[in-house]
Amino acid sequence: MPVNDPVVAEQTPAEDHTIDQCWDRYTEEEHQVWTTLYERQMKVLKGRAAPEHFKGLELLNLNDGGIPNFDRINEKLYKLTGWQVVAVHGLIPNDVFFDHLANRRFVAGRFIRDADKLDYLPEPDIFHDVFGHVPLLTLPTFADYMQAYGEGGYKAIKHDTIENLTRLYWYTVEFGLINTPEGRRIYGAGIVSSQSESRFCLEGRSPNRIHFDLERIMRTDYRYDDFQQTYFVIDSYEELMESTANVDFTPIYERIKNLPDIPAHKVLPTDKVYHEGTQEYARAGGLA
Ligand code: PHE
Ligand code: FE
Repeated sequence: MPVNDPVVAEQTPAEDHTIDQCWDRYTEEEHQVWTTLYERQMKVLKGRAAPEHFKGLELLNLNDGGIPNFDRINEKLYKLTGWQVVAVHGLIPNDVFFDHLANRRFVAGRFIRDADKLDYLPEPDIFHDVFGHVPLLTLPTFADYMQAYGEGGYKAIKHDTIENLTRLYWYTVEFGLINTPEGRRIYGAGIVSSQSESRFCLEGRSPNRIHFDLERIMRTDYRYDDFQQTYFVIDSYEELMESTANVDFTPIYERIKNLPDIPAHKVLPTDKVYHEGTQEYARAGGLA
């Protein structure tokens, strides 16, 4: 569905699908949507988001009020981890996405959701992309993970296993949880930018919470348009890095090609389970 943003629509994207953010063309109303969402999320994320998320927001001054200017973010972010944020017109092809990540460029939507539909997102917008994803790019281990993921994308294209690799992204970068000394926290951008899922994923009886397991995740289906039925938990970003970047996926891709997919709600005898969900939310029909 094409996004309703005239500043996006009037631009012809570059070959790498980027456009100009044209920061000075955001309206007052658009800035206000950012500020409303920001304040709403900070309330719900207290005691729920990973400390690195708050630290990243602070390091990049994402709380100046209003939609952040990518040039300003990049001055700081580049010095910290060599990453940059670039604007794109909308969803982009996998190979282009992987190439940006492999070169430490995070692609973000320019547009922001409508003020009267704060919880409805036809595509990832600037609030999801920047508030959700960019803070963790200030953390060197996570920054390296994202680049390694992009490089891994080339291999997945060759092996025709993009779906398996995408599930890893989904269950970590988008919907990952992490154990900390203070308790379990959210690091996944898809959750961090969602008011309702922030509570559901940690406190809900319905979803499973299971320890991270690379091969199992690569076989697990997911919900694209509703709360997840299972969340995977890491102990540290180092654990995530060591069990992915330092592992050759080729033999794993070969092996799982012959194994069935695992339904999104299923708990296996081999899982390290923190919470076995009732799945009552999904069974009642979810958002539908
Ligand atoms: N090590 C993976 C491979 O061999 C690449 C990868 C790294 C994928 C980090 C995801 C995250 O394909
Ligand atoms: Fe995202």
